[in-house]
Amino acid sequence: MKAPAVLWFYCVLFLRNTNALSNHTFPTWFKFGAATASYQVEGAWNEDGKGENIWDRFTHRNSSRIKNHANGDVACDSYHKYKQDVQLLKQLGVDFYRFSISWSRILPTGYPDQVNKAGAQYYKNLIKELKANNIEPYVTIYHWDLPQPLQEIGGWLNDKLVDIFAEYARTLFSLYGNDVKHWFTFNEPRQICYEGYGIGEKAPGLKLPGTGPYKCAHVLIKSHAKAYHVYQENFKEKQGGKLGMVVDTDWYEPATSHPLDREAAERTLQFRWGWYVHPLVFGNYPKIMIERVARRSKLEGFEVSRLPTFTSEEINYIKGTFDFLGFNQYSTSLVKHRPEPEIGIPSYDNDMGTFIYRDPTWERGASDWLYVVPWGIGKALKWIKSNYGDPEIIVTENGFSDHDGTLEDYKRIDYLQSYLSSILDAIHEDGVKVTRYTAWSLMDNFEWYSGYTEKFGLFHVDFQSKHRTRKAKKSVDFYRNVIKSRKLNKCNSKTDS
Ligand SMILES: *[C@@H]1O[C@H](CO)[C@@H](O)[C@H](O)[C@H]1NC(C)=O
Ligand SMILES: *[C@@H]1O[C@H](CO)[C@@H](O)[C@H](O)[C@H]1NC(C)=O
Repeated sequence: MKAPAVLWFYCVLFLRNTNALSNHTFPTWFKFGAATASYQVEGAWNEDGKGENIWDRFTHRNSSRIKNHANGDVACDSYHKYKQDVQLLKQLGVDFYRFSISWSRILPTGYPDQVNKAGAQYYKNLIKELKANNIEPYVTIYHWDLPQPLQEIGGWLNDKLVDIFAEYARTLFSLYGNDVKHWFTFNEPRQICYEGYGIGEKAPGLKLPGTGPYKCAHVLIKSHAKAYHVYQENFKEKQGGKLGMVVDTDWYEPATSHPLDREAAERTLQFRWGWYVHPLVFGNYPKIMIERVARRSKLEGFEVSRLPTFTSEEINYIKGTFDFLGFNQYSTSLVKHRPEPEIGIPSYDNDMGTFIYRDPTWERGASDWLYVVPWGIGKALKWIKSNYGDPEIIVTENGFSDHDGTLEDYKRIDYLQSYLSSILDAIHEDGVKVTRYTAWSLMDNFEWYSGYTEKFGLFHVDFQSKHRTRKAKKSVDFYRNVIKSRKLNKCNSKTDS
């Protein structure tokens, strides 16, 4: 019998912190999944009538923006290999697959006048294959790939997008709503608006640091609310699904117990997470944001605040437009008070006015923003519970990156294990209503401006091969065991040996 020796080896070497692990069990209603996004995995960027989107344009127009001049033209080729992908999911034993739909594949111009049959069929096939394997499809409606023609009219800075997005969402509810019971309108709106329209590091690459992010967010939030109402009024009764938004944040820990640092950490959470979730829960932006942006705008000579205002009608319309909150978290930062930034350069960062940094002793992933701080997710979940009315929370992304994509990915196992432990304790010790966990990502893929240099996959993908061969990493065994045993500490489990 080899198994006990193998298990011992596994425990001693790879589960280094087993004593600190939660001993709780994932409840029977708790579900596990894995995630990807269309531009990061599909490829087939111009096949079967798909239109151009802003990531096609962004990577093609100036390839120097992306590490090694990479792009998503082929990516993991999931457009052709979706049946293989479903088998990977089956191998993991997940309950659901969170993927996103490429708007330009369904509606090549972005407008809802003409549905591209081949594009619509691709997702029909994927969903059918998932259902045939007992895996629930969880769909992200927008994961950053806006149709280029809509960028030509200003993208998320144009109020017209509210109606256009709602019509796109309606198209998806009609096409797939009989099978899809979990919808996410937007993935990580802060990255869309701050990185896309503020600092310009992501598509469409606009640099409008003082106004772009706010206007973009305003349009996104209204678009989300409209899609929610479209679903409520026309589909909910018949289809019985749920809808929410996916908002990401680090946990922001005060650097010291000084009241000013505590205030700065809370302010950072409000600027990053509250910015989007506060309107959904309470109808409007966090008070601290409204006050600070208004005050600084005035001193800068603006007639009105750079943060747009919702009318009272809009507040009523937006408030309560979620069935759950989607939550992506990877890391934690420390926050120090920053004296009021000088007036002169209007920007979101100056409006927030905090110093944000990482403890250099924390373990790191390959991504420059990814530090391994498992206690952060527990604190964040408790903070959400107590500040946002104890909502249902779906952890929609969490994962670890390395550079080499090694199959012996013990660091990823450690990461997932420790974060899952923190989540388990949040559920059992603090009563946070976390109902699902989603590992990012099913497989190595196109990691935006880092190209293929940061690998998050449970499965390795060989990007040198035209077959884009997938291979299980060690973390596949780990995750499958967690899902099966519903516990973390494998070493204590006698049934395993
Ligand atoms: C979990 O149980 C093990 C063995 O009973 C124990 O050594 C460990 O301290 C426990 N861990 C926690 C976090 O309670
Ligand atoms: C292309 O992108 C690089 C890196 O962001 C930048 O330095 C360069 O100015 C860009 N070139 C053009 C023509 O926009």
